[in-house]
Parts: sequence; C-alpha cells; structure tokens
Amino acid sequence: MARILLGVSGGVAAYKALEFVRLATAAGHAVRVVQTPASRRFVGAASFAALSGGPVLASEFERDPARGSFPGEPLPPHDPASHLELAARADAFLIAPATANTIAKLAAGAADNLLCSCALAATSPVLVAPAMNNRMYAHAAVQANLSTLRARGVQVIEPGSGRLATIGEHGIGRLAEPEQLLATCEAAMAQSDAARAPDGLAGVRVLVSAGGTREPIDSVRFIGNSSSGRMGVALAQAAQLRGAAVTLVAANLAVPVPPGVECRRVITAEQLRDACEREFDHSDVLLMAAAVADFRPAAAQHGKIAKADRDELVLELVPTADVLAQLTARRRPGQVLVGFAAEHGEGAIATARAKLRAKGLDAIVVNDISRADIGFDSELNEVTILTASRLSQPSLSGQGDGDRAEPDAGDALTVARASKVQVAERILDLVERLRATPAPASAPAS
Ligand code: CTP
Repeated sequence: MARILLGVSGGVAAYKALEFVRLATAAGHAVRVVQTPASRRFVGAASFAALSGGPVLASEFERDPARGSFPGEPLPPHDPASHLELAARADAFLIAPATANTIAKLAAGAADNLLCSCALAATSPVLVAPAMNNRMYAHAAVQANLSTLRARGVQVIEPGSGRLATIGEHGIGRLAEPEQLLATCEAAMAQSDAARAPDGLAGVRVLVSAGGTREPIDSVRFIGNSSSGRMGVALAQAAQLRGAAVTLVAANLAVPVPPGVECRRVITAEQLRDACEREFDHSDVLLMAAAVADFRPAAAQHGKIAKADRDELVLELVPTADVLAQLTARRRPGQVLVGFAAEHGEGAIATARAKLRAKGLDAIVVNDISRADIGFDSELNEVTILTASRLSQPSLSGQGDGDRAEPDAGDALTVARASKVQVAERILDLVERLRATPAPASAPAS
C-alpha cells in the first residue's frame, strides 16, 4: 500500500480524478486529495472525501482533521502545517487534471494555494497530468512550462487525443485515463523505491512472456483470449527496476512495453515458442505469464471466409506445443522457472499444483478467473504462489495473507488483492528467494 497525494485543479476533467481515487483505493493505496478553489466548481469535496475516506483540503488556512495523516494511519499527536505534512508523507504527488494555470504556477514556483505549496514541499515523485483545450495545450507558454517541469524531474503524463470537453472540439488535451494515471503513479513509486532499494536482480537475465496468443482462422479472424499482458509487463518492469536485463516476449499486448525492456513481438503460439526457445538458454529466470493457446485451427484459410451459402462453419483444431513444458525439459541447473495458471473456482490450487509438477516448475502463480474483480483484463490481481519445494527460513509469512506450508511439499503464499505492480513485486521477492535457495531441479513428470 502506498500513500498517494492527489492534487485536483479546475477543469472539466476533474470528474475523471474521482475515478482515479476509486481505482487507487481499490488497489489498496491510501489517497488524500487537495483541490484548488476553482476545481470545486467542477467536483465538490464531498465526492472526493467519500471515495478517499479522508478529509479534502483547498487552503492552508483550513484545519486538517486528519492532521496530515493518510487514511488508515494513526492521527499524529500535534497539528502540523497541512502542506508540509501531506507532502512529506506522500509516496507520490499526482496533479490531475493539471490546468494551464496550475502548470504555469508550478513552473513559476508560485505558492498561492495549497496544491502549489504541496508541490514545492514534495520530496516524492511529482506527476503532472495536463488537461485542457487543444489550442491552449499547443500554446508555446504551456509547452515551455511543461518543459521547465520536466527539466526539474516532474513526470508529465501526456494527454490523449480525441473529443474534448467543449462540444465540437477535437484534438490533443484530454486527461489521460484513470487506469493510466494509476499505472504511471505506481511505476514512478516503484522506480523511486528501486532507487533506494538494493538491486536484488542486478545482472540477472530474466525472460518474461506476456499477453495472449492469436491463432488465425483466416486472414482477418483468429482464436484469441482476453489476456491484456498487464501482469507480464508489470513483472518485466519490476524486474528491470531491480537491476535485471529483461527480455519480454510480447503476444498482442493491450498495454505499452516499459522503456528499457528488450521486446520480441509475437502473434501465435508457434511464434511465441520460437522466441522463447531462442532466449531461454541464456536466461536465468523464466516468468511464463503469457496465455498461450492450447489449440489452433489446423489450417488458416487464405483470404476471408464468406458466410454466404453456409449453414455452419466447422473448424478443425489441432494442439499447439506446451511451450513451458518443452522449456523446462531442457532447463539447466540454477535457472528459476515460474509458470502461471488461470484456474476457475474450486479446486484451483490442486489443479495448479498438478501443473507445477507436470511442467517441472519451481513455482506457479495461480489466479481464480471465476472472479470478475481481478485477473485477465483488470488492473488488479489476487494470486496464490505455490512452490515446488519448501523454502528455507525466513518463512513466507508477512508477505501476504494465508501463507502456509502444504503437507505434500512446497509452500503456498497468498498475495491479497492488489495492483498488478504490487503483485509483481511479491512474485519477484519469491524469485529472489528461489535463486538463493539451492533447490533440486524437479524434472517434469512424464
Ligand atoms: N503454457 C505454455 N504453452 C501452452 C499452454 C500453456 O507454455 N500451450 C504455459 C502458460 O504460459 C502458463 C502455464 O503453461 O505459464 C499454465 O498454463 P495453463 O493454460 O493454465 O495450463 P495448460 O497446461 O494449458 O492446461 P489447461 O489449459 O488444460 O488448464
């Protein structure tokens, strides 16, 4: 859980900031909101207070009933200066939406409202998400102010392009979507954590597969799945921040590839297998998060299958290779191999443990796809990580809820519902421990 300070300035897009608060709190973060007086003309404090669970301030002269603490924290015994305390406690300060006026004040170092004072006092990463009319955004003054902020280390979350608030207006200037705001905030916090933390995977070569494969039926249609690739991308980014050299085999991602990660783009299961096989031997860690098709059409038709004169269309499907099982069959000592299993409802753990054995893995990350609030196309996940053998002390306890040793072997660690970035961190903690644990390489069961 992190503490996010959200600064809301006065634009129509302030309504999207509500959704950001909802997403961030759902992901387990504690959020406090400061508003400019003008932003209250668009969205009132009561909505932000209800969603964040904390008081919302707009002025230094307002008393903060929470005394600068974030939701879930104990109240400090003294009454601090709001702008100093909120800024000092925050792990990230996001200003969204940031209007042209607020951007100008930030660039000038003005401190005529609480939001701007907080920005001057912030020691955490500061992120600014502009939102305004496209002609205002293109103005040289706004662009110069944004350049000034960037040069000072402020991260600017670029606005999107499309329909703008004023009827009939189109162009660049739409506030980035709340999911992107959260993902960027989390990445910035992870980066600043990583800058402080030791590089636990320095020099380690990590191969990650992510996304979902597509098997062509004809030239325009395919059999696919709804994996967005978020989990694999979060793992790639987190591993890179821990100092690893990361190669990402990316199958049809719905999310961007983090900068600095080597990417091999693939579409089909066969291409994914070829790419993984090329990279596997010189990798130290494999994180197989991709959703790989188990079957593909026997022959993809050239062109587009027409529906005319057909009562039905029967597709013949043939199995694809089990990429992970093929890779583990040729593993070398010292490699750590982690699989992922999307299981439905009851029996998920037993099925996943059977896969762990059958595929000869060191660990398998299980998530329950019967739940709509986590998993495939969501920002959030809740997983259980099963290990092939017991890990040495210290035990997994403390990293999640419900950790236990399984009677038949291995450990089971539950990572409670959290953003995929946070889940990725827990998986990498485990990878680091597996690398430090001299475990006998389990051969795949025949
Ligand atoms: N996997 C793979 N190649 C496949 C299918 C799956 O490498 N053709 C990998 C996935 O990337 C994942 C693990 O195997 O890490 C488990 O995938 P899952 O689909 O849960 O298991 P399957 O073996 O395909 O079993 P089933 O679909 O019958 O549950």
